[in-house]
Amino acid sequence: MDKLLVHGGSTLRGSVNISGSKNASLPILAAAILTGEDCIIRRVPDVSDTNYMIQILSALGADVERSSGTVRITCAEISDEAPYELVRRMRASICVMGPLLARKGRAVVSLPGGCVIGDRPVDLHLRGLQALGAKVEFEGGNIILTAPDGLRGAEIDLRGTHGPTVLGTDNVMMAATLADGITIIESAAAEPEVLDLANFLNAMGAKIQGAGTRRITIEGVKQLHAVEHTVIPDRIEAGTFMAAAALAGDGVTLRRVNREHLKAITAAIVKSGHTVTFNDAGDSCTIHRGENLQGVDLVTAPYPGYPTDMQAQMTALLATTPGISVIKDTIFPQRFMHCAELKRMGADITVDNGTAIVRGVTQLSAAPVMASDLRASAALVLAALTAKGSTEISRLYHIDRGYEHIDEKLLQLGATVDRVRL
Ligand code: EPZ
Repeated sequence: MDKLLVHGGSTLRGSVNISGSKNASLPILAAAILTGEDCIIRRVPDVSDTNYMIQILSALGADVERSSGTVRITCAEISDEAPYELVRRMRASICVMGPLLARKGRAVVSLPGGCVIGDRPVDLHLRGLQALGAKVEFEGGNIILTAPDGLRGAEIDLRGTHGPTVLGTDNVMMAATLADGITIIESAAAEPEVLDLANFLNAMGAKIQGAGTRRITIEGVKQLHAVEHTVIPDRIEAGTFMAAAALAGDGVTLRRVNREHLKAITAAIVKSGHTVTFNDAGDSCTIHRGENLQGVDLVTAPYPGYPTDMQAQMTALLATTPGISVIKDTIFPQRFMHCAELKRMGADITVDNGTAIVRGVTQLSAAPVMASDLRASAALVLAALTAKGSTEISRLYHIDRGYEHIDEKLLQLGATVDRVRL
C-alpha cells in the first residue's frame, strides 16, 4: 500500500493539463455494451476506477485495447452476468445494468457495497428500469433483471430524497435507447457527465433530447453502431487543482478545462478571496492566491449547484482561511471523514448533522493521516501542501482511483511530494 509524503511550504507555479473525466468515462465505457461494433473513446484517464470498468467489460466478453488515453471496445459477443467480485468493489459498475438489460434482455449485477461517504442505494435505478418493463429479483447478493418481451418506453420520475441520481439517470437513459417507443425521464440529473454520455449515445445513432436538463426524452431505435468520442475534461480534478493553487500557488495555470462546468467551483474560490481568470476560449484558467481572504458558506447541490465531490477539497482550503465557514452536504450528509484527519493536523472543525463549521487557523501542522475515500484523500494532500513539516498520507489507493498521476502533476507545479512504495 503506497504512502504519499507531502512536504509543506513549496509554492506552486506553472501549468498542468487536466485529464479526461473519470465520471464521464465510466458510463461511456459501459455504453459500449449497447453495440457489437467498435467504440473508440479518447482521453479516458488512467485511474483504477476506469481500469476496473475495463476489467468488467473484458470479463463480460468485450474485446478491449487501451493505448495511453484511447480505449477501443468491441462487444461483439457479451454475457449478461457481470463478475460479482469486480462489480461489488466499485459502485459505479452499477451502470452496466441498463446497457446489459437493453442488449441482452437480462442483466445480473451485484448489489453495490456501501462506502464511507454514505449508503449507496439503487432503488431509483430499479424504479426506472422496472418502468421500462424489467422484472427485478434478488439472489445471492445479485440483482437479476429480465425483460423477455423487450423494453417499452415510459414516463419516469427519478427524483429521490437527496435529489436526482447521476448513474440512475445514465442507466435508464442507456436502456431506453433500445426500448420500443418514447421514454421521458423527469427529475433527471443534469451533470455535464450525463450530457457527455448522451452525446456519445447520439453519435452511436440514439435519439436523445434534453440531456443536461431535468427532462430527457429518448426515442428508442432498433440498434446502435460504431462511434468515436473524446471524453470531456474532469471538472473535479480541475476544481481540486484550483483549490491547490489558491492554497499554495503563485499563479498556476490549468489547461484543458471547461469554464462552463466550473462555474460553481470558481464562484466559491473567488468568494473566499482568490482570483480565477479564464482565457477567451474558456479552456484554460489561471489562479492567483488572494490577499484578503474570508470564510464562505457552502451548500452542495445537484449540478449546476456546488458539487459534493468538491466539498472535502474546499473544506481543506477553508481550514486555513481566516473567518468562519459553514459547509453543508445535502447529497451525502455523512461525507465528512476528512474532517477527523484535518483536525489531526490542527484544523478547527465541528461536524454535526451533515454540516461542518470551519474556523480558519493560521497554519496546519504535519501528522500521519489516513485517506478514507477518493475526495477525502485529495483534501488531505491539499492540506499538507501548506502544513508545517512533512505529512504522511496512507491508503493512497483511494486517491489513485480517481486522480491520474496526481503526485507527478503536483511535482510538475513545484510541490515537494514523494510516493513511498511499501
Ligand atoms: C455520481 O455517483 C458520482 N460518481 C459521484 O462521484 C457523485 O458524488 C454523485 O454522482 C453525486 O454527484 C460517478 O459519476 C461515477 P447519485 P452516483 O446516484 O450516481 C441517492 C466521486 O467522488 N440515491 O447521483 O452513484 C444517493 O444516496 C464520486 O467521483 C438514492 O437514494 O450518485 C445520494 O444521496 C463519489 N437512490 C444521491 O441520491 C438511488 O437509486 C445522489 O446519488 C441512487 C442514488
